[in-house]
Amino acid sequence: MEPVNVENRNKYALITGATSGIGFELAKCFAKDSYNLILVARNEDRLNEVTNELKKNFSVEVTPIAKNLFAPGSAEEIYEETRKMGITVDVLVNDAGQGEWGPFIDTSLERDLDIIHLNIIGLLSLTKLFLRDMVRRNEGKILQVGSEAGTTPMPLLSVYAATKAFVLSFSAALAEELRDTNITITALLPGATDTDFFHKAGQEDTVTYRESELASPEVVAKDGYEALMKGERKIISGNKTKLHVWMNDLLGSKMSASNARKLNEPSHNTAGEKLPQHEASLNEREYISQQSGERDGDLITGRKYKDRPDPDSNEPVLTKENLPDATNESSGKVGSGQRQDSN
Ligand SMILES: NC(=O)c1ccc[n+]([C@@H]2O[C@H](COP(=O)([O-])OP(=O)(O)OC[C@H]3O[C@@H](n4cnc5c(N)ncnc54)[C@H](OP(=O)(O)O)[C@@H]3O)[C@@H](O)[C@H]2O)c1
Repeated sequence: MEPVNVENRNKYALITGATSGIGFELAKCFAKDSYNLILVARNEDRLNEVTNELKKNFSVEVTPIAKNLFAPGSAEEIYEETRKMGITVDVLVNDAGQGEWGPFIDTSLERDLDIIHLNIIGLLSLTKLFLRDMVRRNEGKILQVGSEAGTTPMPLLSVYAATKAFVLSFSAALAEELRDTNITITALLPGATDTDFFHKAGQEDTVTYRESELASPEVVAKDGYEALMKGERKIISGNKTKLHVWMNDLLGSKMSASNARKLNEPSHNTAGEKLPQHEASLNEREYISQQSGERDGDLITGRKYKDRPDPDSNEPVLTKENLPDATNESSGKVGSGQRQDSN
């Protein structure tokens, strides 16, 4: 057990997307610092596992709220649940977010709207509801998980990048509106990070996933947590991400979009990244794959996005147990051979 930080032991942090990837690591940062936690995600089994794990390892209260932030009204329901429990949320972390890979004309409209609902409407609604209470108390902190993707148009991930541009603009505007209060808004901009994100987005066969070094979710979360505690308005995690953001600013939208496109195109490197090394993200991935019987995509809600291009429905679900040998070209091929190359 970590030592108790007396200052925080009656404080609560509400974290969306806390069962996997960056959100899970953020939850650990708060727990280490003795914050009590309210964890939000859709999958109740994973929520309970993570709740038990955090309770066991840290002497804090952990309350799971299973909610699907694709659904209209879900943010309001989360807010009402915390009120009914009599909890004051001292820190709000809007981490849950998803993307969908593919040419805009091919991705499903239903999926695009779900992503907008999660990344924009859910984040905006939770911010408004909890921020009003924070303003009444003149105290509080909000961490908005944005992305490097919000600093450039991103062909083949166009809707996702546009939602993250919203997050960055919105967060910077609120930080300025609140400058004379004790409330701070911090935007975190990770670069490509080793989580289940790429699996849910059907983005695993791209140059970014297969050929670049992915950041560690622990490091990204630590950067975000430290910046949040200092009340900084923006934190770009990692030197590579800082360089990308700087270049995007310098090059302007046409050239940075052209660069982003190259990174999002299919990769033929069969030896690259296949499964997340990050354990909580790998567990998330396996759960979703086993539920849906598919090797990629976010199908946990039981809704198949019908007009999503299906690269190869005959491929087996990839798990730790049947992971092909990365050095063997033929067995290592898990991917997008059939995906349309957008060149
Ligand atoms: N990984 C990257 O390369 C990267 C880079 C920049 C920014 N980001 C941002 O970082 C944030 C976290 O992503 P991650 O990479 O850590 O992904 P992840 O490993 O896929 O984790 C996503 C988390 O969000 C939850 N979630 C997903 N859809 C949800 C929904 N509809 N309602 C409620 N919860 C939902 C998931 O749990 P359930 O599945 O149980 O709902 C999970 O806890 C996102 O905002 C993402 O855009 C990621």
